[in-house]
Amino acid sequence: MKTHDFRSDTVTLPTPAMMAAIAHARLGDAARGDDPTVNELEALGRELTGKDDALFVPSGAMANLAALMAHEVRGGEVIVESGAHIYNSEGGGLSVVAGGVARPVTGEQGVLDADAVRQAIRGAADLALAPTRLICLENSHNASGGRVMTLAQMAAIRVVARQAGLPLHLDGARLFNAAAYLDVPITHLCEHADSVWFALCKGLGCPVGALLAGEREFMQRARRAVRMLGGGMRQAGLIAAPALVALRDPYPVHRRDHALAAELARGLAAIDGSLVDAGTVQTNIVNCFVDRFAEDAGAIAAALRERGVLANHKASKIRFVTHSQVDEADVAAALAAMAAVLDRPARKKG
Ligand SMILES: Cc1ncc(COP(=O)(O)O)c(C=O)c1O
Repeated sequence: MKTHDFRSDTVTLPTPAMMAAIAHARLGDAARGDDPTVNELEALGRELTGKDDALFVPSGAMANLAALMAHEVRGGEVIVESGAHIYNSEGGGLSVVAGGVARPVTGEQGVLDADAVRQAIRGAADLALAPTRLICLENSHNASGGRVMTLAQMAAIRVVARQAGLPLHLDGARLFNAAAYLDVPITHLCEHADSVWFALCKGLGCPVGALLAGEREFMQRARRAVRMLGGGMRQAGLIAAPALVALRDPYPVHRRDHALAAELARGLAAIDGSLVDAGTVQTNIVNCFVDRFAEDAGAIAAALRERGVLANHKASKIRFVTHSQVDEADVAAALAAMAAVLDRPARKKG
């Protein structure tokens, strides 16, 4: 049986062009600055983000952690959106390793409000409080179904951060998805952050890695933090090479993923209007709520799996993520499986 894998945009396998680039990559000791392929990728990272320096790191969680350490959050608070990945899904590294205290603020569909951020900031005058050290944003926002913060929303929070003398960190695991949705280059989003990283192994389809970028002194501290965390890599050109392939023309790939997600969302809404509000789907994540049909989404996800459709589930939500290795036929298969599992007619395409 063919599987249709919507669990995450991390499940992609390297394309033939990526495999060819891996085979021909020029290599050296990256931790010594000797790997020409990594150096080329980091130069491209500087150009794409518009920052002084960029560093190739093994994972997004390490990029976040190194950024927290380089922003010196130990003993202070870090303002995060309450559904943020850095707060909920990184093993508590924010506190355990970086020594910060998370200060969650609930946004509207993952989008923080500038006034709410202003109110959450704590100064150093009151000795009973842990002063705010950093504000974190996530764009697009994973848990909210890939929702995008606009440039204006980011700019408003940057103003609040500047007024309070605080740095702003951007978790850009899906930065290209946000940029493709807003129809701007990622540089425009990076302008509103002091530090930023984007994943290479999600919508871009590479096997491993992320690029963390920021201004020079921050990046010196971040480079040290990455070494401390065990992220110093050697012949890492092997995994940097596919990233150079993926970054040649990333926006159309993401737009295609978004179109597939929109098609999936419309189809699910046609099966039953309670499953998805198709108008809220902006990028490549479709959160499908099955409360009307089951107390827990696990049984429905298991029934989908029996029909070859793989998707993550949590509480009453099934999450479908589109990526470069699913296509219209996979979307049609997912819709047919969902209609069969819920015993509903599937929507005719058109
Ligand atoms: C928003 C967000 N931030 C950070 C991460 C962590 O990235 P990685 O899996 O590369 O460690 C993820 C992973 O899915 C994510 O979705």
